Amino acid sequence: MDSIIVTGGAELAGEIPIAGAKNACLALMPATLLTDEPLTLTNAPRLSDIRTMTQLLQSLGAEVASMQDGRVLAMSSHDLTGVRADYEIVRKMRASNLVLGPLLARAGRAVVSLPGGCAIGARPMDIHIAGLEALGAEIELRDGYLHAQAPGGLRGAVIEQRFASVGATENVVMAATLARGTTVLRNAAREPEIVDLVRCLRAMGARIEGEGTDTITVEGVDRLHGATHPVVIDRIELGTYMIAPAIAGGSVELIGGRRDLLPAFCEKLEEAGIAIDATDRGLRVSRANGAVRPVNVRTEVFPGFPTDLQAQMMALMCIAEGTSVLEETIFENRFMHAPELMRMGADIEVHGGTATVRGVAQLRGAPVMATDLRASVSLILAGLAARGETVVNRVYHLDRGYERVEEKLSAVGARIERVKGG
Ligand code: EPZ
Repeated sequence: MDSIIVTGGAELAGEIPIAGAKNACLALMPATLLTDEPLTLTNAPRLSDIRTMTQLLQSLGAEVASMQDGRVLAMSSHDLTGVRADYEIVRKMRASNLVLGPLLARAGRAVVSLPGGCAIGARPMDIHIAGLEALGAEIELRDGYLHAQAPGGLRGAVIEQRFASVGATENVVMAATLARGTTVLRNAAREPEIVDLVRCLRAMGARIEGEGTDTITVEGVDRLHGATHPVVIDRIELGTYMIAPAIAGGSVELIGGRRDLLPAFCEKLEEAGIAIDATDRGLRVSRANGAVRPVNVRTEVFPGFPTDLQAQMMALMCIAEGTSVLEETIFENRFMHAPELMRMGADIEVHGGTATVRGVAQLRGAPVMATDLRASVSLILAGLAARGETVVNRVYHLDRGYERVEEKLSAVGARIERVKGG
C-alpha cells in the first residue's frame, strides 16, 4: 500500500485545477441504464471510484469506454445482460446502490447488495426503499440483497423523505423519469450534484422541475434518449484545496472554483480570517501572516456546511488561535481523523457528535493512518502546517476521491511525495 510523505513549513503559491465531481459522476454514470442510446460524460474525474462504477456497469452489460485519459466516459447500455450489483462491488463503494432506481425503471428488476456499514456509519437504505416502494416497486431483503421488482412498471407518486438523503433523491428521481404519471418528491436533497444529475436527465428528454429546491417534480416519459453532459466541478475537492493555503499560508488560485457551490463553507473560511477572491478563472484563497481565527461549525445538508469538508476544517482549526466546536450531524461516526490529528499534537476532545478543538501554536509531523476518504486528506492538510515529516499510510482511501493529490499540491510548492508501498 502506498504512503504519502509531507514535510511541513512551505508556504503555497500557484494554481490548482479542480476536477469533475466524484459524487456527481457516480450518479450520472448509472443514468446510462435509463436509455438504450449512448450517454457521454465529459470532464469526468480520474478516480478509483469511477473505475469501480465502470466495472459495475460493465457487469450489467453496459459498454463504458474511458477516453481522453479518463476525462471522457462514452457509455451505452443498449444490451443489458444483468440486473445484479454484487456485495463485492457494493461493499467497496456504497454509491453502487445508485443502479437500483435506473434498473427498476428500465428492466423492472434489480438485485442490489445492501452496502453494509462503512467507517463513517451504518448507512442504511430505508429512505431509498421507501421512495421506490411508493413508485410501486416491491422490495424484499434476502441474504443481504435487496430483491426489487416492478412487474407492471413504476407509477408516479407523492413522496415525503424523512431525511433529505442525497442517494435516495438520486435513485427516486432517476426511477421516476420513466414512471407512468407525475412524481412529487418532498424534502428532496438540494446538493449541486443533484442539480447536475437533473440537468443531464433533462438533456436526455426527462421532464423535471425544482432541482436545487426541497421539492422535485417529475413527469414520467416513455423513453429517454442519449446525450453528452459535462460533469460539474467537484466542490469537495475545491473546498479541500481552499484549506491548503489557509493552513500552510500563502495564496493559491483554484481553477474552475465557484463560490455558489460552497456558500456556508466560504462564509466559515472568511470568518476564520481567510481571504477568498473571485478571479476570471475561479477563486483565489490567501492567508498572509494573519492568524487563523477559531470558528464553530455544524454540518448540515446543502446549502449548509458540507459533512465532506468537516475533517478538513478540523485540521485548520487545530492551528487556530482559540477554541472551536465542530458538530457532525449527518454521520454518526465521522471523527476518526481526530485521534490521528492528536498524534500530531492537536488538542481535540470528542464527545458523541461534537468535537472541541483547542488551537495549538504548532503541529508536529508523525506517522498517521488514513481511515476514510475525507479523513485521509485532512491528515495531508495538517502535514502541510506541521513541523517535520508526516507519513500518511493506506492512501488508497485518498485515491478514491482525489486525482493525484501529491502532484496538485507539489505544483504549488508543498513538499509532498508518494512512496510506492509493498
Ligand atoms: C452522499 O452519500 C455522498 N456520496 C457522501 O460523500 C456525502 O457525505 C453524503 O451524500 C452526504 O452529503 C455520494 O454522493 C456518492 P445520504 P449518501 O443518503 O447518498 C442516512 C464522500 O466522502 N441515511 O445523504 O450515502 C445516512 O446513514 C461521501 O464523497 C439513512 O438513514 O448520503 C447518513 O447518516 C461520503 N437512510 C445520512 O442519511 C437512507 O436510506 C446522509 O446520507 C439513506 C441515508
